[in-house]
Formats: sequence, C-alpha cells, structure tokens
Amino acid sequence: MPETQHTHAFDWDAIYRGDGSDTMAPDELLLAHTVDLTPGTALDLGCGAGGNALELARRGWRVTGVDIAPHALAGARASACARGLDLELVLGDSVDWQPENRYDLILSSYALPFGPTAQAATFMTIAAALAPGGTLVLGEWDAERTSWSAPGELITAADLRAGITAAGLRIERLERVSVPAHRHHGHEPAVGTQAALILLAHAPHDILDPRSDRTSVARADRSGFRRPRPCCGRIGRTSSWSARPAGR
Ligand SMILES: C[S@@+](CC[C@H](N)C(=O)[O-])C[C@H]1O[C@@H](n2cnc3c(N)ncnc32)[C@H](O)[C@@H]1O
Repeated sequence: MPETQHTHAFDWDAIYRGDGSDTMAPDELLLAHTVDLTPGTALDLGCGAGGNALELARRGWRVTGVDIAPHALAGARASACARGLDLELVLGDSVDWQPENRYDLILSSYALPFGPTAQAATFMTIAAALAPGGTLVLGEWDAERTSWSAPGELITAADLRAGITAAGLRIERLERVSVPAHRHHGHEPAVGTQAALILLAHAPHDILDPRSDRTSVARADRSGFRRPRPCCGRIGRTSSWSARPAGR
C-alpha cells in the first residue's frame, strides 16, 4: 500500500467524542521536561482533546494546539471553555502544516503520523515552527519494542535520532521508557504498559528554516502571535479556531 494511504488509514477522528469528556490527564512524564522553562509560546502538535495543551495554558504558556481530527479540537475547545483557559486551535496535518509563528516549546505527545515519509515531513514542520533556542519534547511508541503496530508505522529510536538531527535540532536526551498504555487512546491497546521513546531536543540559535533555507531571527517574534478570539469561533482547514472563555 502506498505510504500516503497507509499514513491516513487510521480514522483518528472516530476516537473522539468532541465534547471534552475524553480530554486526557496531562502527561507528567513529558511535561516534567518543561517545568524549568519560562512560559512563552507553545505548540502542541497532535494535541488530541487538549489534556497537555490545557495544562501548559494553566501554567502560563500561550498554547496553540494543532490536530488532524476535528472532533479532537472540538473536545479541546469544550474543555478550554469549561476550565476558563485560552487555547488557539488549528485543524491541520503535521506533514504539511505551515506555522505562522515560531514557538518557544513544541510538544509532540504520541502524535507522529505513521510511516517514515510522513514522520520526516513532520520533523521539518517542527523545525520550521521551533524558535531559535526553543525546546522540543516528544513522546512516541517504540517500534522495536511494540508488537501491535504494522511494520513501518511506528518509529525506532535510531530513526527518531536521525530524523530530528536531519531537521537541524540538537538532541539533549533520548530515553527508552515504559508508560501506562491507557494514557494514549487510539490505535494502541488500552491496558498494561507500553514501550515508549522520550526525546528532548533544542533548536540551535541559528536554526535554518528547512523549508525556506533562511536563518531565523534570534528570537521568536511574539508580536505577530494572534490572541484567541472569544469562544464560539469557526473551524477551518487552514484558518485557526480559538477557544476563550466568554466574557474575557
Ligand atoms: C494517540 S493521540 C495523542 C493525543 C494527545 N497528544 C495526547 O497525548 O493525549 C494521537 C493524536 O495525533 C493526531 N494526529 C495523528 N496524525 C496527525 C497528523 N498527521 N497531523 C496532526 N495530528 C495528527 C490524532 O488525531 C490524535 O489526536
């Protein structure tokens, strides 16, 4: 099967209810890598129903969540409104999403697309979206220690290291860990523990935008960061969709 079909074969949208009832608890193993950072702008790429994005917002980050599944974003929006937190939510595919801003922090929590071509493209999206000196925190299932996936769907530690390095980021840490399987619903089994990879990386201060080959400014330009609009915004494939408590 061509990889493009394979990549999108799983119906992510079908796993979400869209009302926020399936917003997950924050992933403290991943978020532990953010606690020493000064809150700034954060991108949760493949944010699902917003559990991590909302926790970052609660801790003072200005968060944009991107996901390919409309029901995931609807759930994140419902939870943001219920909790009185701001999120910018964007329907997009990490393979070809074009960031309008650069972010101090990117979180990718078990949200890489399946297959090496889509994963490599997502790493280029990450490099294009990460501010100079910015931090990437990524968790992903470990292809070499996971039996439920089809061959070539998940990434190995070696390919993750190679892909992130090829995207121009500097890896600080890449660890093999076991995590509770129920944390990340979807394709994987929901019980027991699952073998995972946790990666911490940084953009160099002179990072090149891999898509334009231009050196970025020394710091993310936050002046262009759009503030969320009130809660009942629109959702579109290319436009952003914001969640903000009414009356704020
Ligand atoms: C296992 S869930 C994890 C959700 C969330 N990050 C969390 O940790 O709870 C994977 C998420 O990645 C999203 N996703 C998968 N492929 C994607 C892609 N190519 N672009 C954007 N989001 C994607 C899915 O829609 C889903 O919400």
